[in-house]
Amino acid sequence: MKETGREAATRVAMEAIQQSGFAPQDIGYTFVSNCFGMAEHQGHVGPLINNGLGIPDTPSVTLESACSSSSAALHEAFVHVAGGFADAALVVGVEKLSHLDTLTATSYFAIAADYPFETKNGATFPGLYATLANAYRQAFPTKDEMFGAIAVKNHANAARNPHAHFQKEISMETYLASPMIATPLRLYDCCPFSDGAAAVVVAAKEFVKKPVTEPLVFRASARSGSVTDMQDRPDLLGLPATRTAGAKAFRQAKMEPKDVNFLEVHDCFTIAEVMALEDLGFFPKGTGAKESAEGVTARDGKLPVNPSGGLKAKGHPVAATGASQVVEIFEQVNGLAKGREVPKSETALAHNVGATGGSCSVHIFSRR
Ligand SMILES: CC(C)(COP(=O)(O)OP(=O)(O)OC[C@H]1O[C@@H](n2cnc3c(N)ncnc32)[C@H](O)[C@@H]1OP(=O)(O)O)[C@@H](O)C(=O)NCCC(=O)NCCS
Repeated sequence: MKETGREAATRVAMEAIQQSGFAPQDIGYTFVSNCFGMAEHQGHVGPLINNGLGIPDTPSVTLESACSSSSAALHEAFVHVAGGFADAALVVGVEKLSHLDTLTATSYFAIAADYPFETKNGATFPGLYATLANAYRQAFPTKDEMFGAIAVKNHANAARNPHAHFQKEISMETYLASPMIATPLRLYDCCPFSDGAAAVVVAAKEFVKKPVTEPLVFRASARSGSVTDMQDRPDLLGLPATRTAGAKAFRQAKMEPKDVNFLEVHDCFTIAEVMALEDLGFFPKGTGAKESAEGVTARDGKLPVNPSGGLKAKGHPVAATGASQVVEIFEQVNGLAKGREVPKSETALAHNVGATGGSCSVHIFSRR
């Protein structure tokens, strides 16, 4: 990304405000998420964005919840608007760190793990998710190609997404030949270090004026925490925070998994996509990889998953990821996802995880 994080954040914020039919002055609160401002020597970015939007007096706050930061910001904006504290609120997620080398970026990211127990002992996110993948593969014997199918599918979707980090397809042969990063995770099982910014406007129904495009309706906005360290969890076959946040979201929406047409899930590593689909209740435990390999989660399958290309290939600009999932859902619902449309887009679910699941958000949206 050539722009600075702050420039990109201000640009996408202005685009979102214009799409929503509001003026910047209508925004009552700005919720910003940004995890690694130190990579650009820039913190306290909320007031800078508001200054760039011409609304210096509007309050702002910067939220950090690791990789789930902008879905946390979205939840806070929802609560703020639903509580009547603002008619409209702005959510902006931004990250810029691709100029860092892999070692530095890996060390930055590792601060989201538990320092004394994990990071200090050499744990990194590829290593922690490899532990989860190994546990899963011991419990449910899974062929390499089953994980490979997820990478191939997400790259195929990203190849049709102009916002994506990697706009290229890969073959199963390329997947299988890619270097091992943390056994059993290969290069193409991993998300990259991405730059990016994404913005969403949240408004009370009565306040919506003349939006340029159809707004999404919130059906659920749920968050959960969980036991952070893996050694303290009862099992390593899924993420407890996904199970809790998913169950809460379905209760709020009075829906079941069968009511959802497509999903954007947190696939920081291919194993994470499998666990998400099982923990959210879309597939029984131990069957998610097999279902994916059989094409059920393809863009034209029965349950399209990550039509954007997911974190794997659309990219993972950490604090912008949760908001970018909502942008994909918005584009699908409004017919703006040209060339990567899912067959049915009435109702969609967004799932965003912080670290190895210490935090998680699940949002459900419907067409108005
Ligand atoms: C997988 C990983 C270790 C690769 O890093 P690396 O080996 O240093 O790779 P480089 O940055 O040197 O890039 C080498 C090539 O691989 C590509 N590449 C890098 N990461 C990639 C990925 N995840 N998927 C596909 N291609 C990738 C680069 O674009 C580059 O391609 P090019 O040679 O055509 O330009 C790194 O991307 C990583 O750690 N990802 C995980 C990030 C993470 O933990 N996020 C938090 C999740 S909770």
